[in-house]
Amino acid sequence: MKINPNIKELKPSATLAINEKVKLLRSQGESVVHFGFGQSPFPIHTEIVNALKEEAANNNYLPSLGLIELRESIATYLRKWHGLDFNADTVFIGPGSKELLYQTILILEGTFLIPQGSWVSYLPQIKAKGGNFTILPTDANSDYKLDANTLASYCESNPVEQKTIILNSPNNPTGAVYSAEELKQLAAVCREYGVIVFSDEIYSRITFESATAPSIASYYPERTFIYSGMSKIFSAGGYRCGFMAIPQDFSHLKSTFQSLFSETFSAVASPVQYAGLAAFQGSEALDAYVQRNTQILSIIASYVYKKLSAAGIQCTKPEGAFYMMVDFSPFQQKLDGLGLQSSETVANYFLDQLGVALLPGSDFYFPASVPIFRLAFVDFNGADWPREPATEEGIASIEKYSPKIVEGVAKLVTFCKS
Ligand SMILES: Cc1ncc(COP(=O)(O)O)c(C=O)c1O
Repeated sequence: MKINPNIKELKPSATLAINEKVKLLRSQGESVVHFGFGQSPFPIHTEIVNALKEEAANNNYLPSLGLIELRESIATYLRKWHGLDFNADTVFIGPGSKELLYQTILILEGTFLIPQGSWVSYLPQIKAKGGNFTILPTDANSDYKLDANTLASYCESNPVEQKTIILNSPNNPTGAVYSAEELKQLAAVCREYGVIVFSDEIYSRITFESATAPSIASYYPERTFIYSGMSKIFSAGGYRCGFMAIPQDFSHLKSTFQSLFSETFSAVASPVQYAGLAAFQGSEALDAYVQRNTQILSIIASYVYKKLSAAGIQCTKPEGAFYMMVDFSPFQQKLDGLGLQSSETVANYFLDQLGVALLPGSDFYFPASVPIFRLAFVDFNGADWPREPATEEGIASIEKYSPKIVEGVAKLVTFCKS
């Protein structure tokens, strides 16, 4: 059988292998701290679940671009939470932002630029269509955020081709959030060189310092596509409901998206879109839900960051999302002594010997030889945490409601100290 060479080239990621191994170990009764898994730990709010239930008998196909009321509610949501001015006509619904990203990658020609320290799926999606890509360097001092000068020098050296940069803030895997100033500088470079921006804002309201993360679309509306959805903010990853908002200047692409959607996934499941309507229309209860979940994540993020940094591990400071990068380079000698020469072998060692799963940095565009990993701090059941914050919430609450986090951190600290 002949297989499309672009697809054949896709290899199971190290992430997938680690996740499979965790599943196997857990099924054998082993206790594993899963710092590899990036799913929201919170239950879906009942307002969203009830909206889904009410439409369970709805067997209609909805329009390919999505339920119009949902598209309108998302345009209003973007205005309310992010101050962005998108028309409902250029907001489209798909089965997760992942699929919408892929469909846009299929449509656009040119080179896709991925900053080192980006989400694992961008590159396989580009490879699946046989697209061109470049990984742009970033560095630890800026928590692996892309510097405007780096983008400018790439554009300077590659002036002719169409370029699309994929930005993600709050970021998976680093937890970093781009400031308004950093986005303005990137926007200026993009405008100068006509770069298109895919802004992956799936964690936009999971921010620890402010209510929302700034969006580059505020400074570069003419060429920024936004991607988001229900998966993280509303903890409904399995519902598969995402959206994209395209700039007015690209509104001519609407019919292209409509055709591609209708020839591939047809439309997102009707009950799910009504659940999405409840989520994006919002309510006081839903606002309180998102705020409390984010507060819990922030307490845990700060605990993990402080403990691991104090043990000498170089960590990115999580300002949002569920993640941070942890770099064990200061322990290189020790790793060499154990014969561990790549982030993948170290990740396997940590899993086998410590019972702690971390994802190797090689899946996030870091060199395989650097012992850097993504740590996701969501291995707990969010339903165990009280909905009302206690006056003092700290280590005692984390020990009580997220004991696996404490256990995993202690194991990594012991490894560094031993
Ligand atoms: C950075 C990032 N973008 C996109 C997605 C995909 O989200 P969705 O469930 O909307 O497809 C994820 C999910 O893990 C993610 O972490």
